[in-house]
Amino acid sequence: MNKVIAIYPGSFDPLTNGHLDLIERGSKIFDELIVAILRNPEKQPLFSLAERKEMMAAMTERWKNVQVDTFDGLMVDYAVSVDASAVLRGIRAISDYEYELQMALMNRKLAPNLETVFMMPALSYSYLSSRLVREIAQLGGHISGLVPELVEQRLREKMDPAHKFADLQLPKKSRTGKKR
Ligand code: PNS
Repeated sequence: MNKVIAIYPGSFDPLTNGHLDLIERGSKIFDELIVAILRNPEKQPLFSLAERKEMMAAMTERWKNVQVDTFDGLMVDYAVSVDASAVLRGIRAISDYEYELQMALMNRKLAPNLETVFMMPALSYSYLSSRLVREIAQLGGHISGLVPELVEQRLREKMDPAHKFADLQLPKKSRTGKKR
């Protein structure tokens, strides 16, 4: 039997623990899973395509049948170009369903042999979205537990570039103002 290649397309701006949960589930049922990060010239993302790809590659390294790639244009064209026969999408709540159904049926119209497979992330991630993570981070809220530590750190650096240097050992001044 031919191996089943699936793509998991999305913006991943940023990658969340919900995405990782879905990738892990997908890696168990597909022979190969390609996480395909969309380059959307119409949207101004928080993280560049290169940053998103680098973070995704680091966080999915542990699953040997998972690869990370980027794409632009029609998702179905990309799927055909990598010989994928399935598209993985996550459904968190019924509110996702309408949009996902519309997209799946439109993609089926464009590429009848490509199947969309919906999977549910763990219940604990059912309220999680990249949009909310971005908003909370931008407003200074806590995002630990919602995104991998690497992403949390990168978000902090984006919001406050000085944070990047916080760990550097700066010479401390004594009370007299002299450097110690
Ligand atoms: O993470 P997102 O933003 O929900 O992902 C949406 C995505 C990337 C799957 C969708 O916007 C997409 O497939 N875009 C590529 C352009 C395309 O094929 N559009 C037709 C969709 S029916």
